[in-house]
Amino acid sequence: MSSLQELVERRAGLRGAAVDTLQAIVSDWQIIADLSFSDLLMYARDPEDGELTVVAQMRPYTAQTIYEEDLVGRSFASGQKPSVQRAFAGGQIVRDGDPDWSTGVPVREEAIPVPFEGDVIAVVTREANLSMVRAPSQLELTYLQAANDLSQMLAEGEFPFPGEEPERELAPRVGDGMMRVDASGVVMYASPNAMSAYRRLGVSENIIGRNLTGFDPDAERVAEALADGEPLDSEVESRGTVVLRRLLPLTRRHHVLGALMLVREVTELRRHERLLLYKDATIREIHHRVKNNLQTVASLLRLQSRRLQSEEAREALWESVRRISSIALVHETLSQDHRQRVSFDKVAQRLIDMLTTGLTAPDRPVVMRMVGTAGELPAEVATPLALVVSELLQNAVEHAFPDEPGTVEVVLERRSSSLHLLVRDDGVGVPEGFSLDGAANLGLQIAVTLVGSELGGTISVEARDDGPGTVAEVLLPLPSAGD
Ligand SMILES: Nc1ncnc2c1ncn2[C@@H]1O[C@H](COP(=O)(O)OP(=O)(O)OP(=O)(O)O)[C@@H](O)[C@H]1O
Ligand SMILES: [Mg+2]
Repeated sequence: MSSLQELVERRAGLRGAAVDTLQAIVSDWQIIADLSFSDLLMYARDPEDGELTVVAQMRPYTAQTIYEEDLVGRSFASGQKPSVQRAFAGGQIVRDGDPDWSTGVPVREEAIPVPFEGDVIAVVTREANLSMVRAPSQLELTYLQAANDLSQMLAEGEFPFPGEEPERELAPRVGDGMMRVDASGVVMYASPNAMSAYRRLGVSENIIGRNLTGFDPDAERVAEALADGEPLDSEVESRGTVVLRRLLPLTRRHHVLGALMLVREVTELRRHERLLLYKDATIREIHHRVKNNLQTVASLLRLQSRRLQSEEAREALWESVRRISSIALVHETLSQDHRQRVSFDKVAQRLIDMLTTGLTAPDRPVVMRMVGTAGELPAEVATPLALVVSELLQNAVEHAFPDEPGTVEVVLERRSSSLHLLVRDDGVGVPEGFSLDGAANLGLQIAVTLVGSELGGTISVEARDDGPGTVAEVLLPLPSAGD
């Protein structure tokens, strides 16, 4: 679908600040739709032939829409939509007396011109389905009156308010709770939701007829905003209840007539947010402790290995130390990341560092490096994969270079739904008759088991065909990027 900007540029030749003005309206006009129980359409006009194009559409949350279909991009020749044309020409709000039956239901349309630097750059229509109208309640009357005030402000360039950027997702809407106050701050109407919100904040008396500045927990700022005719978004907390409020002054020629106060209780939402943060911190703390415990286990094994006489037994313990340390590494990374995802490049690099420093026999210098990137992996993939890489690296260090030094590369390639990993060396190659199936030793058995059953991937270890040495190849399916 074309964007508003593209449409108004192409169909009406509007640019720069004029487009910004329309964009600001579209980001704030939901309230007018909701208060009017109406669909809103924004029309732009071709300066040459007067053709009208719908450039934006908004449906009300408070009523059923008239237009199931999306009208954005639809054009009307200059003879159609007379009230829109009149609003363009006259710069005044045009209200049509007779309902329009063209959609099958009676629709009353009001056309509101959008001024910009002395010109009308667009027209917004409010279209209400009259067949739904019954004897309106006081709530509905208050809504409609406020909608008229806001429409008038729109026509006079006083709505939306300049520079206003409320927190979109949580921002209170009309249905959450609404109050209408007069210019001095006295509550003329409060919807049941608005009254409940104040009751929870500890205001026990009836608030209708009382001055907002007498009972609102944030009275000073509210009074100031009201006096200055400026919008105010604020959050108040009292007695464990959290309420978001949005004060929208209603003005006429910059003179304050009163204000709308939208009120939304967000106690539960905020509580959930805090809980999530807390859980997050707890999970990280647990990873941190797991890492510490694993390191303690590794140290114990290391201490014990020093007391052993048998070279073989000592080596076996050292192997275990390395394996445990590889797991600890992943937990350490997880303890630093609140999303419980691991940058596997970091883990691979740390494994390389670990093997080059502590665990490599110093008389066989081996250069290790990493090529490419694995991106982020979920914790449950990263832990087994770290062990696999550790085994493969260890094998290269241990078996590939009995006499000569050489190079080991970890090659990582992230594809949209898989990870391709190579560990290759330029050493002596696997022994004659080697096959993975026949590999009886622990290292490759661990790797084969983890890749096959834990990670659902494939692994091969064979002689390189592009030179001397061995290449181990691992292919893992991954949930596609982004989820
Ligand atoms: N990169 C390599 N270069 C040369 N030979 C290798 C390489 N990787 C594996 N091998 C051969 O494959 C055999 C099996 O490896 P595996 O890791 O299963 O056992 P290991 O390394 O001998 O013992 P462990 O890993 O249990 O300590 C090795 O003994 C070695 O002969
Ligand atoms: Mg091994």
